[in-house]
Amino acid sequence: MPKSFSKYFKRILFTAVLTAILFSCSRENGRQANVEELLSQMSLDEKIGQMCQLHGENASHDTAFLHLVRQGWIGSVLNETDPNQINALQKTAIEESRLGIPILFGRDVIHGFKTIFPVNLGLAATFNPELVKKCAEVWASEAFNSGIRWTFAPSLDISYDPRWGRIAETYGEDPYLVTQMGLAVNEGFQQKSKDKPLFVATCAKHFAGYGTVEGGRDYNTVAIPEIELHNTYFIPFKALADAGVNTFMTSFTELNGVPASGDKWLLRNILKETWKFDGFVVSDWGSVREQIDHGYVTNEEEAALKAVIAGVDMEMASTTYRDYLKKLVDEKKVSLALIDDAVRRILTLKKNLGLFESPYVSPPVSLPAKEILLLAKQAAIQSMVLLKNDQNVLPFSENIKSLALIGPMANDKYEQLGTWIFDGDTNLSITPLMAFRAHYGTENIRYVKALSTTRDNSEKAFAEAIHATKQSDAAVVIVGEESILTGEAHSRAHLHLPGAQEKLIEAIAKTGKPLVIVIMTSRPLIIDQISIIASALIYAWHPGSMGGEALLDILRGKVSPSGKLPVSFPITEGQIPIYYRHKKTGRPASYKSWTKLEDIPVRSFQTSIGNTNHYLDIGFEPLYPFGYGLSYTKFEYSNIQVSSSLLNMNETLIVSAILHNKGNVDAEEVTQLYIQDVTASYTRPVKELKGLKRIFLKAGESQKIEFRISSRELAFYDARGKELIEEGLFNVWIGTDSQTKLKTVFQLTKSETSYEN
Ligand code: NOJ
Repeated sequence: MPKSFSKYFKRILFTAVLTAILFSCSRENGRQANVEELLSQMSLDEKIGQMCQLHGENASHDTAFLHLVRQGWIGSVLNETDPNQINALQKTAIEESRLGIPILFGRDVIHGFKTIFPVNLGLAATFNPELVKKCAEVWASEAFNSGIRWTFAPSLDISYDPRWGRIAETYGEDPYLVTQMGLAVNEGFQQKSKDKPLFVATCAKHFAGYGTVEGGRDYNTVAIPEIELHNTYFIPFKALADAGVNTFMTSFTELNGVPASGDKWLLRNILKETWKFDGFVVSDWGSVREQIDHGYVTNEEEAALKAVIAGVDMEMASTTYRDYLKKLVDEKKVSLALIDDAVRRILTLKKNLGLFESPYVSPPVSLPAKEILLLAKQAAIQSMVLLKNDQNVLPFSENIKSLALIGPMANDKYEQLGTWIFDGDTNLSITPLMAFRAHYGTENIRYVKALSTTRDNSEKAFAEAIHATKQSDAAVVIVGEESILTGEAHSRAHLHLPGAQEKLIEAIAKTGKPLVIVIMTSRPLIIDQISIIASALIYAWHPGSMGGEALLDILRGKVSPSGKLPVSFPITEGQIPIYYRHKKTGRPASYKSWTKLEDIPVRSFQTSIGNTNHYLDIGFEPLYPFGYGLSYTKFEYSNIQVSSSLLNMNETLIVSAILHNKGNVDAEEVTQLYIQDVTASYTRPVKELKGLKRIFLKAGESQKIEFRISSRELAFYDARGKELIEEGLFNVWIGTDSQTKLKTVFQLTKSETSYEN
C-alpha cells in the first residue's frame, strides 16, 4: 500500500469536512455549541430525550417517530444509513424541536461498510495493527459518506470459546493482541487531529466479560473472579478508556450475578470513577429492560432506576428511560445531577463531532475505489493462515496448469463476507472462482460446487467433483461456514464442518491428487482429521470482498502467507476452553507424565499413569497454538539476548534475537515476544504476549529484532484491582508462535512497589 494512502485520505476527509462546514453554516448560521449553556436551557424531558436511542430505519416516513424527534425525545438513532433519511430526520430535529439539538446517528461498522474486510478474528490474524488502522480509516470514510458519525466498534471481548458465534467479532484470546487491534480501530475511526472535529466516534464493547459466556451459548451467564477481570478482561477496556475511546457499550450478560446494564460497580466505580472515563455509556440493545428477564428487577421502572444509577447514560432500543426517568427524578430516587452528568457526556460528544455546526450528511467525497480494494486484499492476504504444507505443495508450481475448484464457499459473493455486514456491497466481492478463472483461464478451472450450502448433506454431486479432480493437476476445496453460522446468537455445540463437507474432502482425497483445503469461517473449527488428510491447509476466515484475489496470490506464491492464529485451535470440543495464557497449576502437564489412554496397562495402580493436568485421551496441547502460522520460507531464530540481566524499577531493557530467512522465498514473519513472571504473590500465566513485529526479509537475509520491556509492562493486579510490580525472575522468549522455545531470563529488582490507580 502506498505511503501516500493515509495522506490521501486525510486530504479528502479534510475537503469533506470543509465542504460540510460550509454547507451547514449556510443553513445553520454558525450554531452555538456551548454544552453548559445548552444544559441550562433544557427541560427535564429534553434532557432525558438525549439519553434515548431508537432504531430508526426508514424513520423519516414514520409520523410517530417524527413526533418524538420534534419533542426532543431522541438523542440518537441507530441503523439509519440512507443519507436522505438522515438529513430529513436531522432537519426535523434542528428546525422543529425547541432547542434544535442534532441527532447522533450510529451504526455497526464492524469490519467494513460497503467494502468488506476480513472478519475481526481474521484481522487479528494479521498481527498488524498499523494495517488494521488503515482499514478502519476506510470503513470510517465509507460510513461517514452515508452520514454515520458513531460506530459500535471496536469489540474488545476476549474469547477462547469457538462455540460462541461472536468469537468472530473478537480479536481473539489474548489481551495484548486485542488491545493493539482495539487501539488501531479506535484511531482509524476517530482520526484525531487538532484542526478538525472528531471524524467517527467509537464504542468499546461489550463491557465486560461477554466472551466467556457459559458453555459458549450466547447471552449466557458470565462468572469471572475479580482478579481475572483486572488481569485479563479489563486490560483492553482500560487501555481504550485511556486512549480516549468515545463511548462504552454494556454487555447483554450478567457478570458475577449482576446484569452489566445495572452494574454500578462496573460502570460507575470502575469505569467512570477509577478509570476516569469521561465519554458516555450506552446499553446494548434492550439490555436495560432485560434486567427483568435476568431476574434482577421486577419491572421497567426499576430497570431504568438500576441502569441510570449504575451509569448507563443512553438506553439503546428499549424505552424505560423515556417512560420512567422523569417519575424517578420527581420522586427523588434519581438526582438531577446524575441526569445532567449523563446529558453533559452525550452533548459533549455531539459537540466534539462538530454536529452543532455541521449536522447534515456531508456531500459525498469520492473514495479511491481501487486503493480501497487493494487494502482489503492486503488485509485478506495477511489474515490467511497456512496451517499445513506437506512437501511444499504450495505455492503451486508451474506444472500445475489446471485445477479442480470445489466446494460451497468457492464462488459465493455473500458468504465470504462474514457476519455484521449490513451495508456490505456484494457486487464488490471477488470470489476464488472469479480470481482463479481470470488467472489460469476459464478452461483450466473445473468448478464444482458439490454442496448447495455448507450445511447440505447430499452427496449427489460428489461424483462430478471427483471426476473434475481426476482431470486436473490438483484440487482446491473451499469449505467452511456460511456467514449466518457465526456472529450474534449463532453458537454451535458441534464444531466440525457442517453438512457433508468432511465427506466431500474425504472423497476428493481418495483421488490421490494434491489436495489444498481452504476453510472460510470466523471461528476455530475442529479440523484434526482434515489436517491429516490435506496436503496443504489454509485458514482463510471470512476474508471479505477481496477474498478470491487474496487466496489466488497466496496459492500461486505471489506472496508468502504470513497470518498467525489469534486463538488456539482445540483438537476437539471437549478441550474448550484451551488457551496459551493459562496458569501453571501445581501439577503442570508434560509428555513425561502423560500415559495415553490406549497405553494404560490393564488394572494399573491409580497414580501409576501420571497425575498431571492433562486429558488421558488427547493430552494437553491444542491442535495449533496461539500465534501459529507457516510461511513458504523457513524462518529461524537464534541468539536471544537481554541488554542487562537486571531491570530496575522504572527502567527499560532490550531483548533481542536474530531472525534468519533460511529459505529461498522473500517473506514476512510476525515475530512474537512472550514473558513469564516466574513467581509472584498471585500466580501468573505460563506465558504472555508482550510484543509483536512484522518483519519482511528477503531470502537469505537476517535481521536483529529488538523489543523494549519496561518494568511497567510487568505489572499485574491483585484481587482488588491494585496494581503491583514485584521483583523477581522473568522468563522471556522471542519466536514464531506461543510455543517458541528460544528463551532467556532477567531479574526485576527492588521489592514490591505499587502505583495508585
Ligand atoms: C447488539 C449487539 O450485541 C451489539 O454488538 C451491537 O452493537 C448492537 N446490538 C447494535 O446493533
